Amino acid sequence: TKKAFIFDLDGVIVDTAKYHFLAWKKLANSIGVDFTHTQNEQLKGVSRIKSLEKILAWGNKSISEAEFTRLMSLKNEDYLTYIDTMDEQEMLPDVTKTLDFLREAGQHIALGSASKNARMILEKVNILSKFDVIVDGNDVTKAKPDPEVFLKSAEQLQVAPKDCIVFEDAVAGIQAANAAGMVSIGIGDKETLHEADFVFAGFQDMDTDFLNKLINK
Ligand code: G6P
Ligand code: MG
Repeated sequence: TKKAFIFDLDGVIVDTAKYHFLAWKKLANSIGVDFTHTQNEQLKGVSRIKSLEKILAWGNKSISEAEFTRLMSLKNEDYLTYIDTMDEQEMLPDVTKTLDFLREAGQHIALGSASKNARMILEKVNILSKFDVIVDGNDVTKAKPDPEVFLKSAEQLQVAPKDCIVFEDAVAGIQAANAAGMVSIGIGDKETLHEADFVFAGFQDMDTDFLNKLINK
């Protein structure tokens, strides 16, 4: 049967984690909260709202609803100034090659991202048309590790969850894929992503034999 390959965006297709980090750090520091790389790791895959909630909790801050909304848009405006300069060069190694291989093998391809900026970023790096289905931060109410984003992709493609394969760089994303009953493939560090079914440093380390095995499983 035809499988569905679901890609996370940030940290899997493009290296935007560094921009999220810069923008969150600037925002956190502006309200007197420290922000480290370890904390950033915990925000990967986590929605904008949940991320700000976590930062405020780390800094023991409570703010009004209006201030919360203001800080969220400040962070996004800052983040978008980085995104604005992006082009194809910022795609992670062998992403296009993998997408094209799966397409030629007749597989479904979906995006499953928490980002509300997903479509814009895919346009920036010129791969929007490579996806059959896009489910992003505008379509879900429950953030990863909840499986909603991946289950919605599967549903739109009419593929059973067990026939879906998810590529994720975030711990919360791997947990979401596992909770959905899908095959989870970590892109990044083996130790950090130990809950995944398989882990690769990047697509450059994944050979076509491996992909063919997933297709024919
Ligand atoms: C991804 C990133 C997170 C980000 C979230 C929301 O999951 O890994 O760091 O906070 O998307 O992104 P957005 O572009 O909507 O702020
Ligand atoms: Mg990610």
